[in-house]
Amino acid sequence: MSRKIVVTSALPYANGPIHIGHLVEYLQTDIWVRFQKANGNQCLYFCADDTHGTPIMIKARAEGVEPEELIKKVYAEHTRDFKKFHIEFDNYYSTHSEENKQLSALIFNRLVEKGSIIKGEIEQAYCDGCKMFLPDRFIRGICPKCKAENQYGDSCDACGATYQPTDLIKPACATCGKEPVRKKSIHYFFRLADFQQKLKELMAGGYTGKSVSNKLDEWFAAGLKDWDISRDGPYFGFKIPGEENKFFYVWLDAPIGYIASCKNYCDKNGLDFEKVWNSNEYELYHFIGKDIMYFHALFWPAMLMGSGFKIAKRLFVHGFLTVNGEKMSKSKGTFIKAETYAKYLDPEYLRYYYASKLSGGVEDIDLSLDDFVAKVNSDLIGKLANLASRSAPMLTGKLDSMLGTIDQTGKKLIHQLVAAKEEIISDYENLDYASVIRQVTLLADAANRYVETNKPWDAIKTDKEKTRTILTTILNAAKILTIYLKPVLPIFAEKIEKILNIKPLSFADVEGVLENHKINEYIRLAERVDKDKVQAMIEESKPTQPTPPTEPTQPIQSAPVVQLDEPIAPECTIDDFTKVDLRVAKVVKAEAVEGANKLLHLELDIGGVKKSVFAGIAKAYNPADLVGRLVICVANLQPRTMKFGVSEGMILAAGAGGTDIFILGIDSGAKPGQRVH
Ligand code: 2FM
Ligand code: ZN
Repeated sequence: MSRKIVVTSALPYANGPIHIGHLVEYLQTDIWVRFQKANGNQCLYFCADDTHGTPIMIKARAEGVEPEELIKKVYAEHTRDFKKFHIEFDNYYSTHSEENKQLSALIFNRLVEKGSIIKGEIEQAYCDGCKMFLPDRFIRGICPKCKAENQYGDSCDACGATYQPTDLIKPACATCGKEPVRKKSIHYFFRLADFQQKLKELMAGGYTGKSVSNKLDEWFAAGLKDWDISRDGPYFGFKIPGEENKFFYVWLDAPIGYIASCKNYCDKNGLDFEKVWNSNEYELYHFIGKDIMYFHALFWPAMLMGSGFKIAKRLFVHGFLTVNGEKMSKSKGTFIKAETYAKYLDPEYLRYYYASKLSGGVEDIDLSLDDFVAKVNSDLIGKLANLASRSAPMLTGKLDSMLGTIDQTGKKLIHQLVAAKEEIISDYENLDYASVIRQVTLLADAANRYVETNKPWDAIKTDKEKTRTILTTILNAAKILTIYLKPVLPIFAEKIEKILNIKPLSFADVEGVLENHKINEYIRLAERVDKDKVQAMIEESKPTQPTPPTEPTQPIQSAPVVQLDEPIAPECTIDDFTKVDLRVAKVVKAEAVEGANKLLHLELDIGGVKKSVFAGIAKAYNPADLVGRLVICVANLQPRTMKFGVSEGMILAAGAGGTDIFILGIDSGAKPGQRVH
């Protein structure tokens, strides 16, 4: 009987691009969803952008746009990248939606009514410069343990120590460099410990795998603490009902985004949302990475229990991605954006390679680039694609494109392939795609042995009908293996379906034999991976110049003694300074930017070199007044893609922003392009 299934993947933050690390999860999930559909089940796949929180708010500020604009831009990029990798959501939504707002308020109110949310006063780091409370990640300072400089407020990258931001030596606001002060505020807390017993029962009922539940046991043993679910403004998020300047913490409304995405889909498609999300008619599964287990194994089910929503049948947890055995690294060029990968290599190859590595556990998986090239070229191209590419053109070219029938020897091979079906189905169900790929590769070996033994290229010289029989067997073998790999290689499968002139394949078609049937012209199935393209992808992923600091690279040495708006930054060497190439530039063109009330678009002439720069000076200057003026420009700043275009530099100005901003000029004798010393 057909099952009804709802699946979610974790929602990516709307403050950065999708990279190959993210893709582990979306590909793992997409393969599972496609498998369920190909195996005759109804399956709905929901996801969304995770749009709230301080990092997104700060990033929007840095880009001179409203957060709404930033998340719109990122949404377009994320959906574009998912499409390239053939990740097919039934609905890809946003947590910044009306449905999510309503559902977050509903869940919050129900939890308040049940007494699961309480208020309490806490003291936190506050930046007087930025006029906001600082999350741990926005405080930098010296690690209290190893004394490494410039460490985050919650953990040290150098020695791995975790601590409170108050433990940092010489703490500083990561945005403006001021030393944070302590400030009290009332917050809302979710009483997680009240759900301890029920959560233990959930784990005992098989909500997670063994290694995850072992980790949970450690957390239970350590004791569950109240969870702070509110943040003071300014904050990009949903206001807490009844509050003026308090917002839900992003992690409160993020998972509710799963429900909101489902609700939006049901409303658009005339489905009963209550039934799809909340009834036992549908099985619900979440896919996540091991870094967000605490949220999904404790907070999330507890919130659902307390507010009367259904809990997922199972939480699937995967590990991280390493590249060539190491953490993804920007400097080594292994921090590869989905977009960059797709520029050089076929996304289906990554689907295939990840599938060959994923076996359903929480272990990290490694993308070894040499192994990737070898596996794709030898197994996918050399063994699988080869079956069709060696037989279909011969049938169309020399045998009127007509399949014949399969003889006894052929049936033996086909029988062997069909016999693997149940195990392959069960491997997919258990997320053991590595086992699927291993089995299919072995079966492809058997099919290629059949080709080598029967040599259709020799047979065609003497016996056309015998050749037709051989090719019919080979193409039927290719058809079965294509079904087995269809969840992993949807485009490859489409091409085989086109060549074979058949309707979309599913697992129900494994046993059906294709005989006395006319096929279509052969179309190229796949290209070998070129090592040079892999290298080019790595090169493009390396930073071209040192990334300009957007945050202070060292903590402020001490609180300022003079009354400066901003404290003097930490000392830099003359070498640091000369890295910044300051040039005299002439404003050739200046215009307002539609949709951005803070930005002007400037065209600068730096001695014959033109630069297009977006500057946050619209509130202080009329564009017409700027044309012809000499300004000072940071000429070697890494170009930055903004919503409105690429900004290729920065002009120097003083002041806090808004109308309080003053462009630094230079005497009219100076020439555009001259270096500023
Ligand atoms: O860790 C992350 O990237 C989060 N944006 C995941 C959220 S998943 C869900 F809870 F929304
Ligand atoms: Zn600050």
